Amino acid sequence: MQAFLKTGKLGPSEPKKPSTSRAKDERSGPLPVWVEKYRPRTVEDVVEQGEVVEVLRQCLKGGDFPNLLFYGPPGTGKTSTILAAARQLFGSLYKQRILELNASDERGIQVVREKIKSFAQLTAGGMRNDGKSCPPFKIIILDEADSMTSAAQAALRRTMEKESHSTRFCLICNYVSRIIEPLTSRCTKFRFKPLGEEKIIERLEYICKEESLKAEKPVLLKIVEASGGDLRRAITCLQSITRLKGKGIEITVDDVVEIIGIVPENWLDKLIEVCQSKDYSKAEAFVDEFMLEAYATSQVIEQLSEKIINTTEFTDKQKALIGEKLGECNYRLLDGGSEYIQLINICCGIIKAYELA
Ligand SMILES: Nc1ncnc2c1ncn2[C@@H]1O[C@H](COP(=O)(O)OP(=O)(O)O)[C@@H](O)[C@H]1O
Ligand SMILES: [Mg+2]
Repeated sequence: MQAFLKTGKLGPSEPKKPSTSRAKDERSGPLPVWVEKYRPRTVEDVVEQGEVVEVLRQCLKGGDFPNLLFYGPPGTGKTSTILAAARQLFGSLYKQRILELNASDERGIQVVREKIKSFAQLTAGGMRNDGKSCPPFKIIILDEADSMTSAAQAALRRTMEKESHSTRFCLICNYVSRIIEPLTSRCTKFRFKPLGEEKIIERLEYICKEESLKAEKPVLLKIVEASGGDLRRAITCLQSITRLKGKGIEITVDDVVEIIGIVPENWLDKLIEVCQSKDYSKAEAFVDEFMLEAYATSQVIEQLSEKIINTTEFTDKQKALIGEKLGECNYRLLDGGSEYIQLINICCGIIKAYELA
């Protein structure tokens, strides 16, 4: 169940940004976004995704690519990997040879038919300025491909076939099940795994060193714990804290808790206590008071699920019931449901579980 909750939350934490923002970030002067600044430059720099890296390295040697489908949770290196591979393949021609489209770009059927087609049909010419040979094809990266409609995906299938002599596609998504079968069967699929704790800490330590930040291990551990294997979230968190505190000042665990919006344990204890009283109006009063603290309900759900799984307070049956309720509320929140109503709903679920006993 926990896995379901975690993956349920993954989609929206991926920032939707226009495709032009990357180029701008790379150029920006005094305050570059660290997520861009510390993006791996070569596929060898990509941490942990051994299988993908190995296959891509072979492809780079041969100078050719199959169509690719990268899937897995956010912040695990999908976008970085294909960008690094393209950079190594195309060198100075990199900018002309890739077209990057993500969910915030218009991506209906019309766009697939026109934008992708016209890019695919441009001839891949030019010379690299370092004299190395440059393969005669282009790469179209469709980030967040799982948010494309099935009709648009179907239209893409034909384009993919027709342009196969001059274009390689790299589809990126969180959920492979949302990509239609005719597309998945035309791509080599790679699953990106959530990064391990040590790898994230290693990376954060490296950034701390580069940026001369002071953060002890427990602080980094807290960041890792809160980011659930998403390195983008971890790096962004570190940068937010630095913006707030300034460089050179010791970062504390409290700073992390504050920035990420972790709900203090005593609030969760109080929530459970109120539910234990099986008094619905008390629960409502609690939710009213809690809402004033402005914590995200999705955060409450994440912490509650962890807490409830690990407690001996509830029987397995009660845990299952509460878990189901948390999953349902999480889904509704993602779908745009009201934070207030879902929190009430959660309390009612826990009260019901208590009534079982
Ligand atoms: N496997 C990885 N190796 C090195 N850096 C990574 C890795 N995964 C994520 N990152 C870091 O996290 C940031 C976001 O990665 P990105 O490739 O955009 O993730 P995704 O596309 O999977 O959501 C990058 O700036 C990069 O610094
Ligand atoms: Mg990405």
